[in-house]
Order: sequence, then structure tokens, then C-alpha cells
Amino acid sequence: MSASAGSTTSKRPAGEPTLRVMPMPSDVNYNGDVFGGWIMAQVDIAGGVHAARRAGGRVATVAVNSFVFKMPVLVGDVVSFYTKLVRTGTTSVTIEVEVFAERLIHEPEKTSLIKVTDATLTYVAIAQDRRPRQLPPSNEPA
Ligand SMILES: CC(C)(COP(=O)(O)OP(=O)(O)OC[C@H]1O[C@@H](n2cnc3c(N)ncnc32)[C@H](O)[C@@H]1OP(=O)(O)O)[C@@H](O)C(=O)NCCC(=O)NCCS
Repeated sequence: MSASAGSTTSKRPAGEPTLRVMPMPSDVNYNGDVFGGWIMAQVDIAGGVHAARRAGGRVATVAVNSFVFKMPVLVGDVVSFYTKLVRTGTTSVTIEVEVFAERLIHEPEKTSLIKVTDATLTYVAIAQDRRPRQLPPSNEPA
């Protein structure tokens, strides 16, 4: 499947638009596509922002539960990271991160988004001593 074909969607992603960024030429691998590690770092940041908001402060990433690279990301894509809270425990928060690319430079005539990555990560609320702390009550309606 070509980089521009496939998993396009006209639907808006379900989660919150937490992060939007454009990869630069320094972010590519020898194939000319954006490094998986670059995408993983941005996913961790986006999930961490959502988790820290729910945790009311500092969090640490404890686990990457799943991570699927569905389509390549190209330099010049506008890459958006949508986050959704999927589970809370006593000290932990699990966040789903869906990543969509807009081919603004390569295919400016297309307005569709391409789903490029899907991931789920768990974060732990931590105190100053870096040990787990209990989550505060949620402000969301039950
Ligand atoms: C995060 C950390 C403080 C947790 O400490 P810990 O002693 O392992 O904590 P616990 O065993 O009490 O588990 C804390 C929570 O994490 C969850 N957890 C632990 N391991 C997990 C795993 N592999 N997957 C999913 N959740 C996990 C536990 O279920 C628990 O959740 P709950 O309180 O909601 O039930 C510690 O593991 C740590 O410092 N890890 C390094 C973090 C780091 O450097 N991350 C990268 C940069 S941010």
C-alpha cells in the first residue's frame, strides 16, 4: 500500500486534540519516513499531558500496553494526537492515543485525515518522592 493510500477517514477522532506537530527532516529514518521513535515520543507526551491533567500533577509512564504503526508519517505531515481516558485505578491512569496525519504538503487538495498510529499507555500519579500517590477525585460527571 502506498504512503498516501489506505486508512483515510472523514470522521473526526473521538478523543481530545491534545498535541499537534509537524515532523522535520531531522526526524526521518533512512527510508525517508518519520522515525517510529519520534512518533512514540510524541505519543508519550500527549498521553502524559492528559494523564497529568487527570492526576492533578506529576505522572510517570509505567507501561506501553499497545502500540501499532498503521501507516507511515511523512515530513511535512501535520500530525495530531488525540487522547482519551480509558481507565483509572487507585494511582494509575490509562490513556488511548490516536494519531492522525494531514498531508498538507504532499496532498494539499485532500482534506481527509489518515490514521497512522494507535496506542495505549499507563501512567502513575507520583508524589515529590517519585512514589505512587492516590488519584484525586474526578471532576467529570459520573
Ligand atoms: C511508576 C512507578 C513509580 C510505579 O511504582 P511501583 O512501585 O511499580 O508501583 P505499583 O506496583 O504500586 O503500581 C502502581 C500502579 O501502576 C500500575 N502498574 C504497574 N505496572 C504496570 C504495568 N506493567 N502495566 C500497567 N499498569 C501497571 C499498578 O497496577 C498500579 O495501578 P493502581 O494503583 O491504579 O492499581 C515506578 O515503577 C517507576 O518509577 N518506574 C519508572 C518510571 C519512568 O521512569 N518512566 C519513564 C519516564 S516518565
